[in-house]
Amino acid sequence: MQETRALSAGLQSRAQMRGLAIRDSAPFLVGLAAALMLVAPRRVSGGTNDAGSPVPFEREAAVVLRARCVRCHGADEASGGLRLDSFDAVRRGGERGPVVLPGNSSASLLMRKILRVDKPAMPPRVPLSSSEIRSLRVWIDGGAAR
Ligand code: HEC
Repeated sequence: MQETRALSAGLQSRAQMRGLAIRDSAPFLVGLAAALMLVAPRRVSGGTNDAGSPVPFEREAAVVLRARCVRCHGADEASGGLRLDSFDAVRRGGERGPVVLPGNSSASLLMRKILRVDKPAMPPRVPLSSSEIRSLRVWIDGGAAR
């Protein structure tokens, strides 16, 4: 009987302590939530989009393709039968068929070319930076959405 009382007293004081701890850390938690809200949109555009949620083509993928690929894969010259100057063209693919498999970057020919696994590697000379590669990977893994 006495033990039970001692136990419940112990539980009560521990609960009070926890209440105090939560009250003390409230400003910290608010700060943490604010920090997470600041970080969240950057996670998507920065590329660590592990969930594979859709990322619009124009946000980053199109920018990279225009800067690094379109001079050889555009209206003037469609190397390998492939144009990379519009969403529809990228999704259509080249002479070997589709170069992008939505949701599956590692099996996508475009990805294998820029990772220099499938030869000839793309672009043929200066490789893409890791952040350019990430932009394309995130777009494909997010479903290669428009
Ligand atoms: C200097 C010109 C040049 C640049 C820049 C270039 N490519 Fe290419 N690309 C080629 C040529 C030439 C081929 C055809 C090579 C072959 O298959 O023998 C090709 C083929 C490809 C293919 C294979 C198409 C198919 O169906 O066979 C892919 C995918 C590709 N390029 C992606 C890219 C990507 C992505 C970029 C930009 C990151 C890029 N290329 C930049 C010249 C270029």
